Amino acid sequence: MSIPVGDVPVPERVRTLAHGAALTPVWRNNHGGVTFRTDDERYIKHGPRNAESSLADETVRLEWAGRWILVPHVLEAGADDTEEWLVTRAISGESAAAARWLAEPAVAVRAVGEGLRALHDALPVEDCPFDWSVPSRIANAAGRGIRIPDSLREAPPIDRLVVCHADACCPNTLLGDDGRWLAHVDLGLLGTGDRWGDIAVASMSTEWNYGPGWEDALIEAYGVEPDRDRVTYYRDLWNAT
Ligand SMILES: Nc1ncnc2c1ncn2[C@@H]1O[C@H](COP(=O)(O)OP(=O)(O)O)[C@@H](O)[C@H]1O
Ligand SMILES: [Mg+2]
Repeated sequence: MSIPVGDVPVPERVRTLAHGAALTPVWRNNHGGVTFRTDDERYIKHGPRNAESSLADETVRLEWAGRWILVPHVLEAGADDTEEWLVTRAISGESAAAARWLAEPAVAVRAVGEGLRALHDALPVEDCPFDWSVPSRIANAAGRGIRIPDSLREAPPIDRLVVCHADACCPNTLLGDDGRWLAHVDLGLLGTGDRWGDIAVASMSTEWNYGPGWEDALIEAYGVEPDRDRVTYYRDLWNAT
């Protein structure tokens, strides 16, 4: 999970990318990256290079998914030996974890669940060049020196193959003023997989943002009956990777 930011120093690279615009830090992730909003309608995501997924990976996925759903439009992206950055055009929505929506969990949870379903319904599996299957996730983890417990090596049979968001935590859905989902952000790992990979994490993440008691409300908003075995498996896999 990530935490909202207080005062943070502005990295030199971000200062340059701002081209003189004023900067407000809006988000710090747990890889040491920070996202800034500019006062000319851009977001600058910047951080140390990340072995799990790069901002170059995110760039190609945003460009692909943007053909079917509303996601940030990439203005520029780059990397050097130690850091990477992604500049996008601002979407005029607020994260489901913004203070305003934390105060209205029922509205936010419904929006995230419905938004996730809409993403799964809109993105075409047959067209998707990216993989987020269980074997690819286990291989990615192995590349980062993480060994997955034997009990998780065998996934449940696929319920429905979709293009997964792959980081479907609540803060990655943007809401409009009307309290409905508007857009999706943070697509660095997007790829095909069982829809329960996303549903399990989205519902689990409600507890991090809104406290206990919202998990099944999210699954209901998505529009399925809870599948306890798949939910448990995919939460365990998430926590292990
Ligand atoms: N183009 C954009 N328009 C609106 N909000 C954005 C945009 N890009 C990022 N954000 C905001 O910044 C936050 C952090 O961006 P995100 O891509 O999720 O980074 P991280 O990988 O650190 O979670 C998002 O939760 C969202 O609130
Ligand atoms: Mg995010």
